[in-house]
Amino acid sequence: MVSTQIPKLDCGLQYLPASPDLAPNQILLPLTAAVNAQDGLDIGGCEVTTLVQQYGSPLYILDETTLRAACRHYRDAFIQYYPGPSQVLYASKAWSCLAVCAIAASEGLGFDVVSGGELVTAIRALEELGRPHPGPLIYFHGNNKAKSELELALAQGCTVVVDNWLELTTLADLAAQQGTVAPILLRFTPGIDCHTHEYIRTGHLDNKFGFDPNQLDPVFSFVSQQPQLNCLGLHAHNGSQIFELQPHRDLAATLIEWLGKAAHYGLSLGQLNIGGGLGIRYVASDDPPAIADWVKAVAQAVVAACQSQNLPLPKLLAEPGRSLIGSACVTAYTIGSRKSVPEIRTYLAVDGGMSDNPRPITYQAAYQAVVANRLSAPMAETVTIAGKHCESGDILIKDARLPHTEPGDILVVLGTGAYNYSMSSNYNRLTRPAAIAVREGEANLILERETYEDLLRQDRLPERLLAQP
Ligand SMILES: Cc1ncc(COP(=O)(O)O)c(C=O)c1O
Repeated sequence: MVSTQIPKLDCGLQYLPASPDLAPNQILLPLTAAVNAQDGLDIGGCEVTTLVQQYGSPLYILDETTLRAACRHYRDAFIQYYPGPSQVLYASKAWSCLAVCAIAASEGLGFDVVSGGELVTAIRALEELGRPHPGPLIYFHGNNKAKSELELALAQGCTVVVDNWLELTTLADLAAQQGTVAPILLRFTPGIDCHTHEYIRTGHLDNKFGFDPNQLDPVFSFVSQQPQLNCLGLHAHNGSQIFELQPHRDLAATLIEWLGKAAHYGLSLGQLNIGGGLGIRYVASDDPPAIADWVKAVAQAVVAACQSQNLPLPKLLAEPGRSLIGSACVTAYTIGSRKSVPEIRTYLAVDGGMSDNPRPITYQAAYQAVVANRLSAPMAETVTIAGKHCESGDILIKDARLPHTEPGDILVVLGTGAYNYSMSSNYNRLTRPAAIAVREGEANLILERETYEDLLRQDRLPERLLAQP
């Protein structure tokens, strides 16, 4: 198959193909995207329309090259800009499944998990890679962890990122009962405001995560008297899809100040987890900083704050999700019905929607799309891409510029790697799509398409309901 790089298409948009100047979080199409001789889209050396014929529609297509490149951008930037030890953790809430976790782990990343389910997925992936005691690479978050989840984390030797008083006391009791010492980080709300959607802001004081900073003294005092808790460091997270660097610098400075405060309680904390939050380019007008610039800003802020407080450099942890995997995946849909409301709007419906990508209906998130089998056709119309759910708000893209399309054409929505599969549902009893990983002409199934049998598997029909009333 002969492929060339995607040209600038006739739609007023730059599709930003692989460029040495752009980091993986700054591209719209995955790094390996190319146009083939049939004017079709290739990803990872595979023809998208052929993949859809083979694996069905809708289909998540994960470009392994882009994901690996993003992991390396983070890893290499920490080595370049941070003189102390560091560890990048993949925030697996962005997309937790065995294959994605295995790729991240094989690139040297650890994991941020927020549930027992994410925890067992990360552990299984690490074990499959031949890492027998993977616990120390896993950090367990969450504002209301179940006792059973804490027990699992303790048994696996994971670090628990403690969020609140109940968890602190429960964990101390559990560790005492088990005759063990729990490694922990303490999560505080940093009180930093960022420009992002209200539902994905976590740094401002009025949110559900972490201890309020007015609790620093009692928390440090309590922890310093608990032999069952080994407090390794502090954690805070500003929020997600953030394009500014300053909130991350501010966060670093705040956390270092708190490390200094902990020392007054005899706590010598050697780890600092700065969270994630770097944004990606979903539409051409988005302009996120490159991964390396984010790391540089954070690293320099930590070094400067440590110098001014005369503190040793901590081990610096970051837990990006979206900026690792967001741009690495696209979702291919089949175009179906069309409805034109004269002088108002034309709706073009696809065979998925809010169940495979709930971000537009939840956060008013914007996306861009291309037609995989008409890549360089001239733009002919502005349409609204609707999903197939029984919900008027089930709109994937408002006012998309597209070429003329026919039912059966393949619409590819870009940048669907993060918080799509992981937030998917069976709303309207739709089956979740399959996901494949592509690389150098090879495609491998990483998530089976759900079947109707899968949908019915958890259903129970009590005899009583079958009897005549
Ligand atoms: C505690 C924590 N860490 C990391 C992340 C990952 O954020 P992002 O995907 O924006 O990098 C999140 C997501 O909001 C989070 O809540």
